[in-house]
Amino acid sequence: MHYFQYKNGELFCEEVPVKEIVSSVGTPVYIYSARTISRHFRVFDEAFSGVSHLVCYSVKANSNVAILRLLARLGAGADIVSGGELARALKAGIPADKIVFSGVGKTPEEMKAALEAGILMFNVESLDELEVLSEVASSLGKRAPFALRVNPNVDPKTHPYITTGLKKNKFGIPEEQAIEAYKKTKDHPFLYPIGLDAHIGSQLTSVSPFVDALKRLKAIWEEVISFGIELKYLDMGGGLGIVYRDEEPPPPKEYAEALIREAKELSATLILEPGRVIVGNAGVLITKVLYTKENGFKKFVIVDAAMNDLIRPSLYQAYHEIIPVEEKDGGKEVVDVVGPICESGDFFARERKLPVLKRGDLLAIMSAGAYGFVMSSNYNSRLRPPEVLVDGDKFYVIRRRESIFDLLALESIPVNYV
Ligand code: LLP
Repeated sequence: MHYFQYKNGELFCEEVPVKEIVSSVGTPVYIYSARTISRHFRVFDEAFSGVSHLVCYSVKANSNVAILRLLARLGAGADIVSGGELARALKAGIPADKIVFSGVGKTPEEMKAALEAGILMFNVESLDELEVLSEVASSLGKRAPFALRVNPNVDPKTHPYITTGLKKNKFGIPEEQAIEAYKKTKDHPFLYPIGLDAHIGSQLTSVSPFVDALKRLKAIWEEVISFGIELKYLDMGGGLGIVYRDEEPPPPKEYAEALIREAKELSATLILEPGRVIVGNAGVLITKVLYTKENGFKKFVIVDAAMNDLIRPSLYQAYHEIIPVEEKDGGKEVVDVVGPICESGDFFARERKLPVLKRGDLLAIMSAGAYGFVMSSNYNSRLRPPEVLVDGDKFYVIRRRESIFDLLALESIPVNYV
């Protein structure tokens, strides 16, 4: 669900006409609905209200500090994967003791910053990493709280690029190795085992892979506590899917009930790391039709946004609904919606039936709130678009459009290249 809807034939975000935002900041522009984000967070959080839990929003899905602040005010923690995300979460006011640090390649510098900030725990993904974490903690005279991320070898049945819990994926530690590692860290001076973690993939549309993974985690948990190690946090990662087209993902309540049912004997505090389900449908990318052209074989609608702004269609063949900002009566035609970048992979939709479009028409590319702006780049030296947050009848520019100055700011020509 979301708060983008037509009123008298014109697309609104909450109480604000999209056209009003466009006349103020131009196109392309990302627009997010604060009401949608808040609602999604609350529904997700309340689904777990019967048990001790912490929702650590996965910052990678949309890391704008204004969005993080909105979520912090609702009580969210954060799942981070870099020093940059740590800085964002802290700047937004997310308490350090609600932050978990995931990822296969944390550097010693990132570990140090997180330890100094006092985060809740590190989700460690290799035995090598555990060793480095111990060294860094020792240099600071601290004990690093950690969970091991295990690889439960469960197929989440999603796109191969976002499948993470199979043995062929780079993520997590095999079960047997994890159990051995826990044993070694009991009473360790610099490592403090407090949790167990898994994340099996993203955009999952059924609960059964989550339950299968949880069954594996339960067996490991029980074995680890039998060594006298007091685990407290069971981190189930993120991954709950959303509707882009005609998917039927389980509602958060059903997902929560399945996890709670399975985990109840462990008396663990559950940690969840949702990203997409909180912000995915809360954002759209607005773009303008620059040109249309017909080559006798196909009709192309060339818009002013491109794969550098939203890469999901190109990278994952992802479907994003496209609707006109002003509703159109009359006929439809089959077109490719493409961007200005010099690659045939630069498209938002192929062979899509859309109302007949002309130069200057505005289009909304839906469900672009997650993995949209955060995956954008300056490819083709394009300036990244602004981000706007709508809250009721007000809107705020939460990141301005990049300028040519920004584009060139970090580069320099060697002095002798005269
Ligand atoms: N926790 C961990 C450790 C993760 O790696 C991820 C996502 C999440 C939580 C959040 O997953 P979510 O609830 O958003 O599914 N760029 C891709 C998605 C990559 C997901 C990476 N990891 C896309 O656009 O579909």
